[in-house]
Amino acid sequence: MQIAQFEEGLHGRVALITGAAVGNGRAFCERLAEEGAAIAIADIADASETVAAVSSITDRVRAYQGDLTIPETVERIVAAVARDLGRIDVLVHNVGLYEEEPFDLLTFEQWKRMLSVSLDSLFLVTHAVLPLMKRQNFGRIIALSSDTVWLGTPYLVHYVTAKSGIIGFVRSLAAEIGGYGITINAITVGLTATQDPTDRPMNRALLKDIIPPQCIHRADEPHDIANVVAFLAMPAASIITGQAINVDGGSARH
Ligand SMILES: NC(=O)c1ccc[n+]([C@@H]2O[C@H](COP(=O)([O-])OP(=O)(O)OC[C@H]3O[C@@H](n4cnc5c(N)ncnc54)[C@H](O)[C@@H]3O)[C@@H](O)[C@H]2O)c1
Repeated sequence: MQIAQFEEGLHGRVALITGAAVGNGRAFCERLAEEGAAIAIADIADASETVAAVSSITDRVRAYQGDLTIPETVERIVAAVARDLGRIDVLVHNVGLYEEEPFDLLTFEQWKRMLSVSLDSLFLVTHAVLPLMKRQNFGRIIALSSDTVWLGTPYLVHYVTAKSGIIGFVRSLAAEIGGYGITINAITVGLTATQDPTDRPMNRALLKDIIPPQCIHRADEPHDIANVVAFLAMPAASIITGQAINVDGGSARH
């Protein structure tokens, strides 16, 4: 189905949100649906809870399951979204893997897995959606990074390296796709209350040490990040590209 004209906000648009079975991704789906977008979810996990949550806002929601580090899987999912929903206007690349490990104990396997989940998936999904966005002369790509790239948080060398790679990707690609009306930006997210952060030993330390000196003395909530995602996804954000926007209560003053 081709939609020729668009109303206000994201009405008539289609947003693909990766890694949206849980956490921040679910909040992004709900927020973009509230702005009028049809929602496609791609995740290695079952996303039926996110589909149920978004269904109370729009019936134009679909989930596609698969490992986004595998080229054939990404091609299959992107083709299915285009077939089922007609186009892809917004890509929110939110797939991630969080793992604390002192560098001495970090194995080459852990290192490669982190880079693959964070960066191979970004390469593959962006590569697959760009031809559609170029044909439309419109696109918004938003990739989720982390404020640990500014803070240099320890025990996260593989994670911080991967999240820094996202910023390099955004900066360079922005220059190649701007002429097609496509923007690409990263959001560097602070510790977000997507799940009980006290489950993670490193996060216990972060809560104790990092939140008090922040400018805003609370952890990010998923809706804080979702508001920025929605802003960057809007047609009106057409002049903002190649940026890494920091959303962490002022922990890093990037
Ligand atoms: N939660 C935080 O405190 C925080 C802080 C900084 C940055 N971030 C980033 O924000 C994003 C979302 O965070 P979150 O805590 O909601 O994420 P999360 O780690 O809980 O979930 C990520 C999602 O990615 C999916 N996924 C993982 N590997 C995949 C693969 N190979 N193919 C397809 N899907 C895959 C998972 O199933 C999951 O649904 C991530 O990129 C994360 O790194 C989160």
